[in-house]
Parts: sequence; C-alpha cells; structure tokens
Amino acid sequence: ADDALVVFTPSGRRGRVPLGTPVLEAARALGVDIDSVCGGRGLCGRCQVDLCEGSFPKHGVESRAAHLSAKCDTERTWERRRGALCEGRRLSCSARVLGDALIDVPPASQVHRQVVRKRAEVRDIELDPSVRLYFVQVREPDLQVPASDLRRLKEALACEWHFGSLEHDIRVVQQLQEALRRGHWGVTVAIYDNTRIIAVWPGFQAQVYGMAVDVGSTTLAAHLCNLQTGEVVATAGRMNPQIRYGEDLMSRISFIMMNPGGEQAMTRSVREALNELTVELASEAGVPVEAILEATFVGNPIMHSLMFGINPVELGGAPFALATDEAIDGLWATEMDLVIHPNARVYGLPCIAGHVGADTAGAILSETPYLGEELMLLVDVGTNAEIVLGNRHRLLAASSPTGPAFEGAQISCGQRAAPGAIERVRIDPLTLEPRFKVIGCDLWSDEPGFDTAIGPCGVTGVCGSGIIEAIAELFLAGVITPDGVVSGALAEQTPRVVADGRTFSYVLYREAARTLAITQNDIRAIQLAKAALYAGIRLLMERYGTDHVERIRLAGAFGAHIDVQYAMILGLIPDCDLDHVTSAGNAAGTGARIALLSRKARRDIEDVVRRVEKVETATEPHFQAHFVEAMAIPHRSDPFPRLRE
Ligand code: FES
Repeated sequence: ADDALVVFTPSGRRGRVPLGTPVLEAARALGVDIDSVCGGRGLCGRCQVDLCEGSFPKHGVESRAAHLSAKCDTERTWERRRGALCEGRRLSCSARVLGDALIDVPPASQVHRQVVRKRAEVRDIELDPSVRLYFVQVREPDLQVPASDLRRLKEALACEWHFGSLEHDIRVVQQLQEALRRGHWGVTVAIYDNTRIIAVWPGFQAQVYGMAVDVGSTTLAAHLCNLQTGEVVATAGRMNPQIRYGEDLMSRISFIMMNPGGEQAMTRSVREALNELTVELASEAGVPVEAILEATFVGNPIMHSLMFGINPVELGGAPFALATDEAIDGLWATEMDLVIHPNARVYGLPCIAGHVGADTAGAILSETPYLGEELMLLVDVGTNAEIVLGNRHRLLAASSPTGPAFEGAQISCGQRAAPGAIERVRIDPLTLEPRFKVIGCDLWSDEPGFDTAIGPCGVTGVCGSGIIEAIAELFLAGVITPDGVVSGALAEQTPRVVADGRTFSYVLYREAARTLAITQNDIRAIQLAKAALYAGIRLLMERYGTDHVERIRLAGAFGAHIDVQYAMILGLIPDCDLDHVTSAGNAAGTGARIALLSRKARRDIEDVVRRVEKVETATEPHFQAHFVEAMAIPHRSDPFPRLRE
C-alpha cells in the first residue's frame, strides 16, 4: 500500500494518508488541531507529538518507531538550539508517516488545550486567547508583478494559514517594511480575534503575553500570563495610589465632586501605578513590555470607571446609573496610556449594576454558579458586600452596605491584616480568659516563647477575622447577650470586663504601652455590618424563593482568612453544611485571568451578566425588616440547625 493508517489520540480521529505525509499535515487533514507558530518550519517546537509504540488492537494499529521518518536536519537543528526532545517525541512538522501509527497529541501541543485553572480544583478552561502568533515567509517584491508589502503579507497569511480577508492596524503598516527586510522576508505577525493584524516582528518571535488585572480600591493585583501556554509567569501587587484622594470609594467620589477634573487625576494615578506594576511583572518574567499584547481588567464599578476614564460621579448617589453594563472590548493600550505594546488590546469585563461591578462578574466567571444545578451563594466582602445567588436556571445579584468594619476599620482596636494583628481568638467559657494568635507568629499567646516571637512592635491591634472570632467567642462564653450587649454583671467576676462610660468592654490584651479592648461600639459596628450582609443575602434568597443554600463561596481576602464556623456563629452567612462553606480566593482576579485566556469565557460572562437579575437593596422595602432581625446574634428568628450539630 502506498498509504498508511494514522490514529490520533486523545481525539480518536483516524484516516489513511499517503506515505511521506508530514504528521502535522496528516493531523490537519483529519481535523486534529496541533499548535504551530512557525507554520511547520521547525522553529517554534509547538507541534510536538508522541509516537505510541506497540500493537493497539483497539485502534487496529501496529505502531513502530520505523513508521515515522528518522530525524531530519531541521529537527536536529531545533534540538541543538532548544534541547533534545523527550523519548518518543517528535516535531510533527518534520516527522513523516512511513507506516501505520498511533500518535498522541500531548496537552501542550493542542491548540484548544485545557489549562488547569486552580491548583487543587479540577475544573479546566480551554485556552483560546484573542491574540495568536503566526510566522510567514513573504514573497519578495517583484517589478514584474507589483504588489505592496502589506498585500503580499496578507497573501502569505492566506496561503499558509488560510486567513480570509484580514484588517490591520496602521502601526503595522508603519513597521512592516523594516520588519520584512530585517527578517529577510520572514516575519511573525500577531492576529487579534482571527480578524486583524495588530503587530509584526522581523523573523521568528516565539512568545506573546497578556496581563490580567484586578483593580481594587485598596490594591492592584496583576498576573502576567504566557498566552501560548496559559501559564502565569509573574504575579505582583501594589497599593492603589488613589488612596491619597480618599480611603474609601465614597470619599473618592466626594473628592471628584469638590475638585472638578479630580477624576482625571485619579485615572492618571491608577494608570501610572499599573504601568509601574507592568514593568515589575515584565522584568520578573524576563520579557519586554512590548511582548504584552493583551490586558484584561476587573474592578468594582467606581474603580472600573476610573480605570477606563469614565467619570464615576453618577455612581455616588441614587439611582446609581452605570455608564455601561457591556464589556469594554478591543480598546487600544495607547488609549489608556499603558506601556505595553501600543497595539495591544484591552478588555474590561462587564459591570452588573451600580454597586455590583466587573469584579463580581470575574468572580462569577471563576466560580461558574451559572453552570450547575446546585444553589450557590457567592459573597465578596469588602467595603461593600457583593452577593450573588443562583444556579444555571437563575442568577441574582445585589450589593449590601456593610461598611469597612469587617476590614478592621471603625473598630477601636481594629487594623488591617498585617504582622502584629490578632487574627485568632479563643475565650475560656469558665475563666473568661482569652488566648490568641498574632499574624507573624505561629504560637498561641499562652504557649512558651510567644512574647519573643512577635517582633519588635508586639501586638498592635485586631484584624477583621480576629474581631469576628473575638465577638463570636464572647457570645459563646456568655459575655455578650444575643442582642450584642456586654453583660456588666460579669465585671464583678473578671477583671476582663470593665466599665466604659455607661457600657462595658472586654479587655482582650493589656500591656504597659497599650490596651486592646472590644468595646460596646465595636460590637455594634460588627452587628450593623453583619446585619447588612445577612439582610442582603436573605433578600436574594426571598427573591429566589428558597430558605436554604447548598454551597457558600467566600471570595477575596476576607473569605480567605475568616473561619467559616465563626462567621456562622455570628450570623454573617445563612445556615449551610459547614463542609460546603469555603474560600474562593481572589475569584475576581481569577475571572480576569480566565477572560484573558479564553474568548469563549468572555462571551459566556457577557451573556450571563445580561441575564443576572439585579436587586437594589437600598429601595427594597423588605431589606430594613431583614436588617433589624439580623442584628441579633446569630439571628432573631432564623434557625441555624447545623451550628447546633
Ligand atoms: Fe513549528 Fe513544528 S510547527 S516546529
């Protein structure tokens, strides 16, 4: 026979091809997508396959090393430059079919390969970025057949990569002639969304990068990803410099109202910080900033607006109108003064409502409540709590004005989570004596060595998780009543309970320089915050028509540090099997990364956001009633049966 049977795994596609056909060509003929940037020239190494050796009756193939051609010069040259291929592995553009063969396309060589999304979780996303690289050899100019450099480039792309009509950015034309000549008519082009040439480099360019950014009101966090592999190559964060215009979102809006043009100053400052972050990411990964061809953004509605140069004042008061609830797509990096490649494209995930931003859209994309049957509650607690409830049938979202108490603000001894902050608290129900753990020290306060282990500043305050645990433990020990009142009668039993004007406080920590006490006002502040959060959740449950949720995911730093059992003891979240209450990590940032790596994910989240039912807590008549009920610990009327278990 002058042809051979080739079977590709894992797709299972099979067919007969003429002897001598390059494996890459055979794959394409049989509809198997193998990655390639260089178009089969042995430059990129992205087309690697494994020849499976042996007899495979299930597939009807006897596959042997001799059934592929021996390594040719191109393959050997590639190996000399880039290191030997693993045993049994070949460049599919060089190896030719000489007999029946079973060929495996490893995940790294699949065009739409799965990228593991989270370390411990098995859900994957399909790698399908908007920007892809293609190497082409362009015909030299010819007096006899006049055609412009751009026309011949497009002809080459059509011939080698089967592109139909392609558009192009003007900067590509500005750089094309030099690139073609410096590359001896071989150039690498970046094509955006399969429709537009956005960059050109002389010769062969192997890698292209993208960055996913979470613009928080306090911090900016960014990942730099290799768009060919999906791998995160660098991660960095820094403070949002807008803090100098106001600690929280509303004070930044007030600054704009009182200082015309203030929004431009804030936009400039966040973009400058982002550019510094970009340079840091690129140098950590050892790549030039010009190799970054895409950026995706998430942020709450006010951060989102300022990032994209939209005045956010309308979000400062009712009816909290968004400028747009559509994704911001295809913006040029230069329009945002970003230092990445000038033709790089920027994508902003859509905001959902006036208080529910693109960060929540990112969290939804990361947690995918819209795919399952299970009723999921997704909560991201910051200065506001963003709440999403639903499943594949229905999704509702709201924001609740929790204020900054959960972050340690408005609390007499509160501080941000940093070394020196008390983060864990236990109170002996008999002696009412506390023990605690401090960030920066692995020991409990009653363990030997604790004093010396906490560093020069000692214990400096209590962070959000510490306050929640302290109040929950005080409640369990009977120091606080279900109404949240510190019982003054205990002042006679323990020196920990002390009078503080007309109310009482509990002294958690005392030394010569400072006293850290949980005051009645602190407890009120936490009660108000948790009542707002719970009332928002209850409102969504009421709208959905349910009185229980099956899974709770707590996003953000708060969710990562809080002990879920204490959250439930205080009644921050509704009753749920504790095994089903878990941290979602930086779900918003993960969502930005997914959107960076997958065009399909962008279309999915745009579609989901259009379907989300927005619930405005400020105008909901029931919110106030739920709020009042939720002031009690854990709640005035809702049962928490699983807590008792
Ligand atoms: Fe680039 Fe084979 S396709 S090395």
